[in-house]
Amino acid sequence: MKSELEMALASVALAIPGAAAIRDTQYLGVGTQAIGIGIRYSIEHVEVWVGILRPQITSMFVMLGVSQLVIIPANVLRRIQGRALLGSIPRYVKIIEVGPRDGLQNEKDIVPTKVKIELIKMLVSSGLPVVEATSFVSPKWVPQLGDAKDVMEAIQNVEGARFPVLTPNLKGFEAAVAAGAKEVAVFASASESFSKSNINCSIEESLKRYHDVSLAAEKASIPIRGYISCVVGCPVEGKVPPAKVAYVAEKLYEMGCSEISLGDTIGVGTPGTVVPMLEAVMNVVPVDKLAVHFHDTYGQALSNILASLQMGIATVDSSVAGLGGCPYAKGASGNVATEDVVYMLYGLGVKTNVDLGKVMLAGDFICRHLGRPSHSKTATALRTSTAHVSKL
Ligand code: HMG
Ligand code: MG
Repeated sequence: MKSELEMALASVALAIPGAAAIRDTQYLGVGTQAIGIGIRYSIEHVEVWVGILRPQITSMFVMLGVSQLVIIPANVLRRIQGRALLGSIPRYVKIIEVGPRDGLQNEKDIVPTKVKIELIKMLVSSGLPVVEATSFVSPKWVPQLGDAKDVMEAIQNVEGARFPVLTPNLKGFEAAVAAGAKEVAVFASASESFSKSNINCSIEESLKRYHDVSLAAEKASIPIRGYISCVVGCPVEGKVPPAKVAYVAEKLYEMGCSEISLGDTIGVGTPGTVVPMLEAVMNVVPVDKLAVHFHDTYGQALSNILASLQMGIATVDSSVAGLGGCPYAKGASGNVATEDVVYMLYGLGVKTNVDLGKVMLAGDFICRHLGRPSHSKTATALRTSTAHVSKL
């Protein structure tokens, strides 16, 4: 059984490029050894010690062999630290496109069903692996998605992506399955006030409902995603404590959600609030089961995504052209734009299998229909330079 300290040091070592395999870890004991604490691992067959030197616990050293101590020069240390920041980012990130659902649900004017279907097809053709297609919610609550059945039926034969849909209760689940849905998502909240305004029940009542949905989903072998809204802030209650998010996340995980998406519904989070929230959630749900879902109201979404990637999250929700918002979260603006996420991931050398040019075409298509410019900075900047886009 590794101690927490060993685990922490192991993660530091893993973040350093080249540390292909941790061959052995050792904890030298704080306070007993002059050299401090450290772990041993191998970089290309060379045994290396990485540790924290006492008493200046902020300095790092590398000791090759056991007798030779090498103090790292400041510039090398900076390079190691810089690489450690990027080295912890996953090599592949799965992008969940939520434009046809989250992107459109807030639109006042009803978008014709055939436009929604064409949008979904264009998004699939860009290589996006998952396109959240619509919601089976009450049409009185979200009139824009009242055509959920028609949308689902029209994309039955579209290949190349998965099409989860939102289901707030058993009624929605049954309608979704009847229309051909093969994956569903339930949506809870970490804030009581938002739970009440969005789905007209308390958090506990929603968890009970979702438990029923999860049992039905399990019986039908349908994977179920769990959303949590207001993970850092609520439009009514203000700051939301990380422990509340962790509580709901654990419940959703226990009931069988295969992925839990953490939603900053009103886009108020910064890395300063997102990181503690993720730490709390990661104590109860494995990181590979987590996704992040940032609305970009305060322009913080990309920095929050970067911080999440550095913490090991490899699934990111986004919406083409930055469309989106929740009708029951006043002041919330669109999701982070898919184009901006793809551009950042490309710059980080992270694989997505998404063709940015084709996402931009989908963004142009829906923005033309809605009669407004894209919220994607990348799409706006690249529109004048198609030659550049083709290289991405
Ligand atoms: P309610 O009024 O409490 O429900 O709404 P009810 O059981 O009393 O039913 C009222 C009526 O709705 C009845 O019809 C039901 O049959 C019908 P009536 O008898 O009056 O004709 N109904 C349904 N119809 C179709 N499909 C259904 C369904 N259920 C009931 N599934 C309810 C409760 C949950 C239904 C309602 O509050 C609702 O639909 N809310 C959805 C709100 C919503 O979609 N919000 C946006 C999505 S969440 C989001 O955007 C956040 C996210 O992006 C993450 C983030 O950013 O944080 C995911
Ligand atoms: Mg959302």
